[in-house]
Amino acid sequence: MKISPEKEVRVLYEETADSYSKMMDSEIELSIYSDTLSGLASRIAEIPGTIIDTSCGSGHMLELYHDRYDSNHSLIGVDLSPKMVEIADKRLGVKAKTFVGSMLDLSTISSGSTAAVISFFAIHHLDPEEAKTVFRVWHRIMCNQGQLVIAVWEGKGTIDYGDESDIVAFSFTQDQIKSWITEAGFVVDRCSVEPVEEIPMDAIYLEASKP
Ligand SMILES: C[S@@+](CC[C@H](N)C(=O)[O-])C[C@H]1O[C@@H](n2cnc3c(N)ncnc32)[C@H](O)[C@@H]1O
Repeated sequence: MKISPEKEVRVLYEETADSYSKMMDSEIELSIYSDTLSGLASRIAEIPGTIIDTSCGSGHMLELYHDRYDSNHSLIGVDLSPKMVEIADKRLGVKAKTFVGSMLDLSTISSGSTAAVISFFAIHHLDPEEAKTVFRVWHRIMCNQGQLVIAVWEGKGTIDYGDESDIVAFSFTQDQIKSWITEAGFVVDRCSVEPVEEIPMDAIYLEASKP
């Protein structure tokens, strides 16, 4: 089955951006996010460069990161959906720069300029070849010792959205993600598969670094 193209993914998030943002108001309190982001802040404390969330959605992750753990690094939020970027921009104000774009094309971000890349629950909108490409893109923009933090839906094949959407998206196995990340030049430092509250799928939480 063919993955839905970016223009269809954009429409999905344009239509659901407000409700997604409301849902994230409570979801962001889950300990997985505070644990992951506080760990990231301590690992990059001495590493200069920006932090980029390449599918920032409503901006909740960057806000939590900035407000609770690290107001020193400059932050960038990118998302395919203009509505999501508008919401993120309102939420973040001067705390972050935001722009509409695809994580597959970060050509405006200089090579080696990034201390950390964050990507939560967005790679399922890429097919395997695009996922391999995005890891190479993240590797290009990252400085040495830079950190990658991602969450990905775990599984084999397509994701069932039920009545919510006709969109075709892919889940991936831990082995696939680990091997593509390694091929791109990262070292995988931590990887676990964990259940997600109220969702009948597990998530892969992975941390990697650029040697
Ligand atoms: C499930 S939401 C997750 C949002 C945010 N990362 C979070 O965890 O709250 C998926 C987001 O990925 C964005 N997205 C999908 N494909 C993208 C792409 N190619 N480049 C950038 N953003 C993309 C969508 O617009 C949407 O905001």
